[in-house]
Amino acid sequence: MRRIGIAADHGGFEAKEYLTGKLRDVGYDVVDFGDRQLLPDDDYPDFIVPLARAVGHGNVERGVAICGSGVGACIAANKIPRVRACLIHEAFSARQGVEDDDMNVICLGGRVVDNEFAWHLVQIFLEAQFSGAERHRRRLAKIAVLENGEVQF
Ligand code: RB5
Repeated sequence: MRRIGIAADHGGFEAKEYLTGKLRDVGYDVVDFGDRQLLPDDDYPDFIVPLARAVGHGNVERGVAICGSGVGACIAANKIPRVRACLIHEAFSARQGVEDDDMNVICLGGRVVDNEFAWHLVQIFLEAQFSGAERHRRRLAKIAVLENGEVQF
């Protein structure tokens, strides 16, 4: 069973609950990193960062990170080593982001896309696989070295 992590602040809480149900219905093992209740003053880093750490450490295979716009979730997740997160609101990038860039966290705006379309995007993201092509590995390697501090190409 594939283990997927999910996290959201108040701006993505409703979408998180919906997507968690959908993911479990189709057989994913879903780890919920919170928030566990709708708290209008909660802060997205408190939930997105633990999710991103779990992805970075391989404790969950991929992550779904949601806030109101998806922007804050994406900024926070990308601070964590080995996380490749992107804000995705259309189907093309949901697939190609995985195939070419090995995206492992999809960020969504709960106030931007409706639940059904978010589910459509999440399914595309989870079904896609990294191509492993040499040119893509080369590009990702140039990004990965940045996790060890600034470098000159
Ligand atoms: C919270 O109101 C909102 O700023 C947050 O959910 C997110 O949209 C940030 O990028």
